Amino acid sequence: MQVCVKREAIDTIETDLVVIGICKGEALSGGAAIVDEKLGGVIDGMLEDGDFRAKEGDVATLYTRGAFSAKRILLLGLGEKSALTTEGLRRAAGTAARVVQSLSLTRFCMLTPDSGADDACTAQALVEGAILGTYRYTELKTLDEQKPEIKSLTLLAQKGESMEALSEGAKRGRIIAESVCLTRDLQTKPANFMTPTMLTESATETAAQVGLSIEVLDEQQMAELGMGSLLGVAQGSDEPAQFVILGHNMDREDLDTYVIVGKGITFDSGGLSLKPVQGMELMKYDMSGAAVTLGVLRDAALLELPLRVIGLIPATENLPGGRAYKPGDVLKSMSGITIEVISTDAEGRLILADALHYAGRYEPKGIVDLATLTGGCVVALGHVASGLMGNDTSLLADIKAASERSGEKVWELPLFDEYKAQIKSAVADVKNSGGRTASAITAGLFLQHFVGEHPWAHLDIAGTAWSEKTIGHVPEGATGHGVRLLVEWLSGMASR
Ligand code: BES
Ligand code: MN
Ligand code: ZN
Repeated sequence: MQVCVKREAIDTIETDLVVIGICKGEALSGGAAIVDEKLGGVIDGMLEDGDFRAKEGDVATLYTRGAFSAKRILLLGLGEKSALTTEGLRRAAGTAARVVQSLSLTRFCMLTPDSGADDACTAQALVEGAILGTYRYTELKTLDEQKPEIKSLTLLAQKGESMEALSEGAKRGRIIAESVCLTRDLQTKPANFMTPTMLTESATETAAQVGLSIEVLDEQQMAELGMGSLLGVAQGSDEPAQFVILGHNMDREDLDTYVIVGKGITFDSGGLSLKPVQGMELMKYDMSGAAVTLGVLRDAALLELPLRVIGLIPATENLPGGRAYKPGDVLKSMSGITIEVISTDAEGRLILADALHYAGRYEPKGIVDLATLTGGCVVALGHVASGLMGNDTSLLADIKAASERSGEKVWELPLFDEYKAQIKSAVADVKNSGGRTASAITAGLFLQHFVGEHPWAHLDIAGTAWSEKTIGHVPEGATGHGVRLLVEWLSGMASR
């Protein structure tokens, strides 16, 4: 989707459709008032009769029938003005763009609403909402007739907005939304189109496009480093494991360093601790953390963040092959810590253990890992918020603040000492499952063993990586949750 910003009167603009945001209970002003007048008071009438209530996400299409150059007006409810947030704008823009898509239109405009937020944030939210809300994964569809792609979105300034701020925000919104779409594509791809090797190829391609450095370790190099925990999981699969190291400003050791680590299980069958049939097909998205890591690194490069940002992706399948690791096995991690395998289905923490230990070599100011780690986190927080855990209050506070700004919700779970008893092992240093109770927390405590003293935060995205329904800017399916959050966090760190 091409995006541009213009200042032009609403009644002369040539386009398929103009979106006009309307706040509940506010008198029509600006473009909306002009349209209302040209259409003989129809909008006022709809509001008065209660046919259009302007609740957030309400839509109504009006046909101008030659009253002016745009063929259609889409009224878009924004709810109460006092309750309007950038996240609300993003959601509403997603809903509006989906109407445009369902009408098979290819170019549309949005009046910049009088939201109270600054112009750059408003433009960013509108563009993100429009691109993300119309996201589809179509490459494997050959029979269904596809609605055409929307080619262009124009933001129409109406009053005293700064054109520079609008353009800046729109550009940032487009870059970030495109990264989220890349992340969603990778999450959605079936496991036979997204093996660890194919994940590496995707990362290599993106790295070349945006100017990231990339290094890929093969199984032999992992063995030389002693990554016995990661390689233990990989044993059950014929697909070779991969360890991808992406870098933005990799050789700028003068800059503050942040490491993002993403779980890259391209398919999680559970291994010998096999998962039930029901829903196993969704375990193709068990590499969501890896996909988010790639999205964030893409943005770090394109937004030219003045930081050194490193992305680590441990990737493998978790399958019950003839050489598969078994419950009761003890694995020796790169850190030296030994791990008793209770469940081969608690594989995510095993591959992260070696990646988190590896992250320490960069002396980072912060390590953040993302992982679809536990069903327990989905039970606790549903699909609304990611579980946040960590060892550093100021890092956690920064992530919570970025969460508020980005609209991607997180909620902290406590890593209390009392839970540690659950992952004590009789034969090794630690065991990989703490049982059913507090399983998101015991998983977090397990990971904590491998980060040493480095400031670290863990995001359990098991519930947020995938959406069961279409809402606002999130169509059903892969969400890309975490990209916008961490880009916002890193941008904050860069402007300190
Ligand atoms: N990938 C799963 C967690 C998951 C569950 C992600 C549902 C998305 C939706 C993970 O590898 C797993 O199997 N975790 C186990 C751990 C348990 C055996 C300690 C779980 O949560 O049941
Ligand atoms: Mn598992
Ligand atoms: Zn898993």
